[in-house]
Amino acid sequence: MTASVILGAQWGDEGKGKITDRLSRTADMVVRYQGGNNAGHTVVVDGERFALSLIPSGVLYPNVTPVIGNGCVVDPAVLIEEMAALRARGVDPSRLRLSANAHLIMPYHRKLDMVMERFLGKQQIGTTKRGIGPAYMDKFSRFGIRVQDLFDPKIFRQKLEVAVKDKNKQLMKVYNQLPLDVDEIADEYLGYADLLFEHVTDTSLLVWEAIRDGRNVLFEGAQGTLLDIDHGTYPFVTSSSPTAGGACTGAGIGPTAIDRVIGVAKAYISRVGTGPFPTELHDEVGEKMVQIGGEYGVVTGRRRRCGWLDAVALRYAVRVNGLTELALTKIDVLSHFPTLKIATAYDSLGERYTEFPRQQRVLYNCHPVYEELEGWTVDISEVRRYADLPAAARRYIERVEELAGIPVTIVGVGADREATLERSPGE
Ligand code: IMP
Repeated sequence: MTASVILGAQWGDEGKGKITDRLSRTADMVVRYQGGNNAGHTVVVDGERFALSLIPSGVLYPNVTPVIGNGCVVDPAVLIEEMAALRARGVDPSRLRLSANAHLIMPYHRKLDMVMERFLGKQQIGTTKRGIGPAYMDKFSRFGIRVQDLFDPKIFRQKLEVAVKDKNKQLMKVYNQLPLDVDEIADEYLGYADLLFEHVTDTSLLVWEAIRDGRNVLFEGAQGTLLDIDHGTYPFVTSSSPTAGGACTGAGIGPTAIDRVIGVAKAYISRVGTGPFPTELHDEVGEKMVQIGGEYGVVTGRRRRCGWLDAVALRYAVRVNGLTELALTKIDVLSHFPTLKIATAYDSLGERYTEFPRQQRVLYNCHPVYEELEGWTVDISEVRRYADLPAAARRYIERVEELAGIPVTIVGVGADREATLERSPGE
């Protein structure tokens, strides 16, 4: 039995939900360790689409205890709605466990996310406007309100009064907005307490017990490596740590507990929101990737920017996460292109870079150096064994392995749950 981290190796939307879903078949626990309802996982079961944003994908399996860890930020209304939607479709969410230490997304966080983005104008990040950044700001400035506070109305009220006083000043004086009402927020949020009570626990202890007892635990990262607050393309990032270290702090476990770190990478690459993107395509090839790959956000419906696979960024993800293996998803989308490209280096400001540049100025001026590979142009979505893939598809995958320096153990060939090949060593 193992503890594995599954995380995005790019800018999010790599198809992590599907890989987590696949590995959940044999898992006992699936733990979200950061982010909130800015994430979106789509899982297709028997042709039926399940879009989850906060609850770990493993909830669809009766063998799995889904856990929302302390590193997450939780919008309680969204969580309650998501549980109701699952119930309506015959999925029982009662096993869900929620960390008492997770921070709450409050109405002023959503409002601030909206007005702060507007204020930034051309410099805006393109956030999901779910209040994620402002909620983490409050956590780190020690103004935050946690899930456990919902169960102590007096303390909740005290913290809320301080916070609302401060936020209203900001909203009115800086952003010219109407103030928020403490009573209204208190009534709304304290009303959630009963609905959440049975789910709230010390999830760090729960996860530790599972690991101690030799259970199979998956840690599910949201967003991706290049959106990490420390290691991503700052400031065009999210406000948490999707990288592997985040699994430790966001779930309350030590690094020695982790056996495998699986990076999920799409066979091409996409990004939503603004910020540098060296291999972005502004031509009909990029447009074809958007259309064939269905590259529209699960949460916001925004069109994703698309481009060729970037091996420089991928090697960076291998390094900062200590990835032990890769899951390469949506390779079927590449079936529509006769010639494929992979960026192996960047040229920027008169220099060649084979490592991901640390300076934003360099990154903004990058021109990718491409290697071309032959495509396969046949439908591979029904293939279920690695050996049955066309030779050109296997060459592409094996080239990705060489460039990344780690094995590709899982290959996604289509949207359905079954359209995933697990590759045995030596195959
Ligand atoms: P925030 O997380 O809403 O603050 O948004 C910050 C940046 O992260 C923006 O560029 C978003 O588009 C991006 N982002 C947040 N969540 C996701 C996700 O699940 N997939 C891809 N991009 C995301």
